[in-house]
Amino acid sequence: MTRPTLAANFALAGLIAAMVTAGAQPVSPAKTGPAKVTFHQDVLPILRTRCQGCHRPGEIGPMPLQTYAQTRPFAKAIRDSVLRRTMPPWSADPGVGKWRNDPSLTAAEIETLKAWADTGAAEGRATGAPPPAQFVEGWQIGKPDVVFEMPVSFQVPAAGLIEYTYIIFPANFNEDRWIQAAEIRPGNRSVVHHIVAFAREPDSKWLREYPTGQTFVPAPRAGRKSRSSEGDRLEEGSLNDERIANYAPGVWPDRFQPGQARLLKKGSDLILSLHYISNGKPAEDRSRVGLIFAADPPRQRVFTLAAANGTFVIPPGAADHRVEASVTLNSDVELVSLAPHMHVRGKAAEMRVVYPAGERETLLKVPRYDFNWQHSYEPASARILPKGTKVEATLWFDNSANNASNPDPKSEVRWGDQSSEEMALGLFIVAFDPKIDLKDLLEGPKRRAPKGVAEAKQP
Ligand code: HEC
Repeated sequence: MTRPTLAANFALAGLIAAMVTAGAQPVSPAKTGPAKVTFHQDVLPILRTRCQGCHRPGEIGPMPLQTYAQTRPFAKAIRDSVLRRTMPPWSADPGVGKWRNDPSLTAAEIETLKAWADTGAAEGRATGAPPPAQFVEGWQIGKPDVVFEMPVSFQVPAAGLIEYTYIIFPANFNEDRWIQAAEIRPGNRSVVHHIVAFAREPDSKWLREYPTGQTFVPAPRAGRKSRSSEGDRLEEGSLNDERIANYAPGVWPDRFQPGQARLLKKGSDLILSLHYISNGKPAEDRSRVGLIFAADPPRQRVFTLAAANGTFVIPPGAADHRVEASVTLNSDVELVSLAPHMHVRGKAAEMRVVYPAGERETLLKVPRYDFNWQHSYEPASARILPKGTKVEATLWFDNSANNASNPDPKSEVRWGDQSSEEMALGLFIVAFDPKIDLKDLLEGPKRRAPKGVAEAKQP
């Protein structure tokens, strides 16, 4: 209901502005209804649905945008950021695909915010304004059914490189559970670079030699200088050990549609892989993972797949280095989301499908990939990928000095966990009949590691 009113208000405001410019007498707002764009009537409803998810205390937006007093000083910055379309953040080319989770403002919403800033950012009357948005303090997914928290704070030193740190939580479920939503909450965002949560099945050997309930840095495997969470998990883990959640600034937690959920098998553990960075002062972190379970077994099981290339070599200084990856489905699945993944040299990405009959379709284009905003893109309508469909990803890297985020344009860059190294992943989440065995999801030799990922040199 708010949108037509907003548009109507704006049209009226525009009309009056036009009359003023033309020298006509403006009509008194009292007689014709609201003439001026105001905070309470027009701006706040947009902020609530489109901005406060991040711009409220405890979330990643640098300032809260909940009250007039908080928002007024940013009227011009808000106007500029929505006109430039840098806020809300979103990287998909609008000409390719429609996304259920696309946060982009409508043209009318942009006009309203612009008009508000341009007409003096009036407060208006709070009465009759729509009710506040409901947020669960501290969580984006809503109130979790279960929370796993690090029992002791991790001490982050003031300086130096910190190896990937792990903690294992025994999940102690004596029956299978279905995860509808999962979220990682960093304890201290200033030192948490990113965190990945994995489910480890009872028969998996991955990190089995380490104790539960305390942080540790795994010893490097023979012949390597460091561990690779992804490579080692793929080599030692069971096929079903999967990533169930990711945290990095700008990553939204996955919330699946009703009837779709991830399986957390009876007897599984949760493993967190924590990447800390020093911030110049000694600091502490105690991060948490929250899970919401589906009430009933779902119609479809959800699993993350990837078109991955682990053997690329990006030459020093290369400004537009292209890497291709692909994988072919061996079962019918429904596409849940797409998420290209690179590190700071990531420049652009594209994901496509080639259907069994040979028809090609571009699903997603990300013309300017931004490592700080790792979006996942959920198709607006159900899309079935039949058995035999090939999923392709093209990933472009900028290893030149022109890339302001490039830590070293002189280095030759390969696959690796650290942000100075790169990844070339076209991640995609699929949903399918829970009776399908995971090993039947993908075609080809039944190797678990995507080609090249496990064997890739671990520098
Ligand atoms: C996904 C989280 C997120 C959402 C949603 C979001 N912001 Fe932001 N916003 C941020 C973060 C993080 C920053 C600081 C880093 C940056 O500027 O990229 C920021 C910065 C800003 C800034 C200051 C920088 C600038 O560009 O001038 C403004 C103004 C702003 N946001 C307005 C908005 C408005 C208005 C909305 C809704 C229409 C919105 N934001 C939605 C996370 C978000």
